[in-house]
Amino acid sequence: MQLLTLPPNPTLATSIRATAQVFEDPKSRALLTHLQQVAPSEASVLIIGETGTGKELVARHIHNLSGRRDRPFVAVNCGAFSESLVEAELFGHEKGAFTGALGAKAGWFEAADGGTLFLDEIGDLPMAIQVKLLRVLQEREVVRLGSRKGIPIDVRVLAATNVQLEKAINAGHFREDLYYRLNVVTLQLPALRERRGDILPLVRHFIGTYGRRLGFETVGLSDAAARKLAEYDWPGNIRELENVIHHTLLVCQDERIEAADLRLPGLRPERLDGGAAADEPLEAQLERAFLRLFSERRSHVHEQVESLLVREAYQFCHANQVHTSDLLGLSRNIVRARLIAAGELVVNKRRTPAPLASRIVRLSI
Ligand SMILES: Nc1ncnc2c1ncn2[C@@H]1O[C@H](COP(=O)(O)OP(=O)(O)O)[C@@H](O)[C@H]1O
Ligand SMILES: [Mg+2]
Repeated sequence: MQLLTLPPNPTLATSIRATAQVFEDPKSRALLTHLQQVAPSEASVLIIGETGTGKELVARHIHNLSGRRDRPFVAVNCGAFSESLVEAELFGHEKGAFTGALGAKAGWFEAADGGTLFLDEIGDLPMAIQVKLLRVLQEREVVRLGSRKGIPIDVRVLAATNVQLEKAINAGHFREDLYYRLNVVTLQLPALRERRGDILPLVRHFIGTYGRRLGFETVGLSDAAARKLAEYDWPGNIRELENVIHHTLLVCQDERIEAADLRLPGLRPERLDGGAAADEPLEAQLERAFLRLFSERRSHVHEQVESLLVREAYQFCHANQVHTSDLLGLSRNIVRARLIAAGELVVNKRRTPAPLASRIVRLSI
């Protein structure tokens, strides 16, 4: 039965992604061997790699191969919180420790007790918190904000960064003593373009995972499509590859991927200059676009952005509402309402829009 193969809930979906792994390129195999050697130890590991190279997946794998596998794995993005918040989240707080602390709360260290704490984007941790983190690691106890009592903790810390921390140390943004404490073992994850032998196995892996999820029996891949994928530079690494395969399957008409179905951005101008913006994450690019919109002081920014997003997604999905709602993670009713508001769908007159081809013709005359 097809339905039974679909993950019943998002939690399971994540765990499938987190457990299935591809390590085919010689560089990745060497990395896997190293990982398997250090995993059972208690050593802190610093995982270094560009965004999307699999740092979190590697951290989970280390945890699963360690004696702590039946205890919690807690992943925390150190860059996602303000300084005051990250402190309370990491170390916990007592009732009334600060305005708004209505009750006592355990921090991530306590939550990970007996298990593994994964500190992602460790380079973003404010200096003041770095001092406290070092103390917790040395003394193996955590003191909640607003308390004086130390709580003993038994946590293995794995940290990840996408920047060279040595540079941050030289610039005075990262403590050298903390660096040595976290960096007992280093795992350097090469960018996907530096381990090209992983590309096609990853493609097959994600075709399998997402194909099943979308209810496809088998999905074919033309030689030209395979070549295009294998030759692409993947600035966004495995995450980009995963997104490309997912989106391609969403719009794929006949369970066979052709080269033309693959939307790979061409070489970006910044890349040709060798400029630092080449690996700029998508979020940062979006942020800059938003800032420009704001600075132009346009009215109805939200409406404009939302309308553009829905229209672009709809075109990307060859005017298929179901695929569009899947892609955007919105209900079909909402997508339909937004498309109508954007003038993309005409109510009552025509239930389905003109096919894409005829719309393109309309636009070009
Ligand atoms: N070796 C691998 N095999 C299969 N999938 C992988 C592998 N490495 C990473 N992924 C997948 O790629 C995506 C990005 O990985 P992630 O660990 O979040 O990267 P990072 O933390 O470096 O940004 C995730 O969906 C992850 O499951
Ligand atoms: Mg990550």
